[in-house]
Amino acid sequence: MSAPNKDFDPVQVTPLDAEQVEGAVADALAAVAAAGDLEELAAASRAHGGDRSPLALANREIGALPPSAKADAGRRMGQARRRVADAVAERRAVLEAERDAAVLVTEALDLTQPTSRRPRGARHPLGLLVERVEDFFTGLGWSVLEGPEVEAEWFNFDALNFGPDHPARQMQDTFFVDPPEDGLVLRTHTSPVQARALLDHGAPLYVAVPGRVFRTDELDATHTPVFTQVEGLAVDEHLTMAHLRGALDALVVAMLGEGTVTRLRPAFFPFTEPSAELDVRCPVCAGTGVVAPGAGARAQGAATAAEEAASTRADDPAGEGAPCRTCGGTGWIEWGGCGMVNPHVLRAAGVDPERFSGFAFGMGIERTLMFRNGVQDMRDMVDGDARFSRRFGVEV
Ligand code: PHE
Repeated sequence: MSAPNKDFDPVQVTPLDAEQVEGAVADALAAVAAAGDLEELAAASRAHGGDRSPLALANREIGALPPSAKADAGRRMGQARRRVADAVAERRAVLEAERDAAVLVTEALDLTQPTSRRPRGARHPLGLLVERVEDFFTGLGWSVLEGPEVEAEWFNFDALNFGPDHPARQMQDTFFVDPPEDGLVLRTHTSPVQARALLDHGAPLYVAVPGRVFRTDELDATHTPVFTQVEGLAVDEHLTMAHLRGALDALVVAMLGEGTVTRLRPAFFPFTEPSAELDVRCPVCAGTGVVAPGAGARAQGAATAAEEAASTRADDPAGEGAPCRTCGGTGWIEWGGCGMVNPHVLRAAGVDPERFSGFAFGMGIERTLMFRNGVQDMRDMVDGDARFSRRFGVEV
């Protein structure tokens, strides 16, 4: 070790020998060239160009040389260290370019790939239709109410003037809930909410009640054991059949359009007197009862391409002159029951029939969708196939 060396340095320094410096440079260049990535290059740079590298240690020896030799040695050491530094910089540029190129490959986005996103669903047309009905009644100033689907037998039948042995109880095929002594049924219609609403709110009252109802029917093209009704009930002083007719006419226009022809046909319900069925002239065959010229059964009643495609089931081909499948060849479609509220029902619900009278009606929503939108098979409505719903448009 040569003087002056003020700091104690335990490392044995390399004597300033040209060959050894050349050897250290050669080692450094080999290590730099061998670095396969930026991390290895940083390690090689530390080992061969850092403070403790052979070249750095040799550099320190310059101070101990006689002044005549200092300049020359300094230049040689400077060149040697620059060669190493240049090699590191060059290699770094190459490795950085390689890394950038690799990132472009591994993180590339192929914008032409098909999307993996699921198609948007669509609201079910029955729900949309119920909302339309609700909007109509809300517009008239009526309230929209709901009632329970598991209903007391008393509300479903007794309060509605079905006697205990009334054949009408069997007329509506009822799901009874176990145990039978609890007197609970799955409601067979929305009419029990008539009595509930009157007991809760009294008269005068104007309410619409949409909801699911249940009957022991097999699922087929025209029946489903779970379906939807909308009940209407108006109770006030001096209400007559004319008010019923007026309300129904307005409902018909709102749901089926101006110019729809209807008729009231005498019928019977224990909870209305007099009672009627509201028939709508079949919009598919325009009341003729037969398939119109040029219209296959598939396209019957389809006002738009979306509606035409609204069945996922294949239809039987039915040519011109065949009986219309929508109305069964009668030219009329039964839309729902209606009538003047039976005084017994008012009395059972705590309303004075001497002072108040009322009218009520109940429409099937599935049927409405069938003849309004040309859906020919009710099973399409319960399958849960999104293609069916989407054809009615994605409304929110
Ligand atoms: N509840 C009856 C049915 O389901 C329809 C109806 C409602 C009839 C209101 C008259 C009055 O068939």
